[in-house]
Amino acid sequence: MIERELTFRIMRYNPDEPEKKPHLQEFHLTEEPGMSLFVVLNKLREEQDPTLRFDFVCRASICGSCGMLVNGRPTLACKTLTKDLPDVTTLLPLPVFKLLGDLSVDTGVWFRDMSFRTESWVHTDETFDPDAPEKRMDNAVALEIYEAERCIECGCCIGGCATANIKPDFIGAAGVNRVARFMVDPRDKRTEREYFEVVGNEDGVFGCIGLMACDDNCPVGVPLRDQLAYVRRKMASAGWRYQKV
Ligand code: SF4
Ligand code: FES
Repeated sequence: MIERELTFRIMRYNPDEPEKKPHLQEFHLTEEPGMSLFVVLNKLREEQDPTLRFDFVCRASICGSCGMLVNGRPTLACKTLTKDLPDVTTLLPLPVFKLLGDLSVDTGVWFRDMSFRTESWVHTDETFDPDAPEKRMDNAVALEIYEAERCIECGCCIGGCATANIKPDFIGAAGVNRVARFMVDPRDKRTEREYFEVVGNEDGVFGCIGLMACDDNCPVGVPLRDQLAYVRRKMASAGWRYQKV
């Protein structure tokens, strides 16, 4: 392997010190075999600047905490290898979410708000009986739910979404995917009309302008384009019927 000197231009900003303007700070280090951005950022913090802020928990594309803009594209830093990057790389925090400092953003508040707004729990009149035997679910339905639940809440679909960047209340692809997850769940007794009340509007499924960056950017391959088409179809017909009532 030919040794490469890599340059990283990293956004520095501390919201607690607003008098210091956001700026790009340049760092240099020598590439190593199998190096990921997780290794890069930890090396930079340990060896060059202990104040550098970023988030990692699992290092394995599971926790969703390391989403950032890598040369303008939202992705997980832990799964990004330096061998796939040019000599100079720019790292910025994901937009839309509250900036905590440098590359660290608070996705948790956004996702909790979206969960409440989409009422992300099974709506049923049945009383939970812990002694009752488990009910079987059709395999195909269980797989559809699993597909939606693969979302790791990294926020890459939101950070790269043109609508989410200009409309703070837009639920985005992650929100639409969440709604789809409950729509296919036979235990959830919500009617289409009730779903329509929640997402049949411009901050919901009709706010999407169809650029589909979400689908391109999802690092775990949740089928966001299909989920959007599914929910939109249901809400369009519900809306049509709703107008008639
Ligand atoms: Fe991340 Fe994909 Fe979930 Fe969006 S749908 S938050 S890109 S895992
Ligand atoms: Fe968990 Fe990257 S550190 S997804």
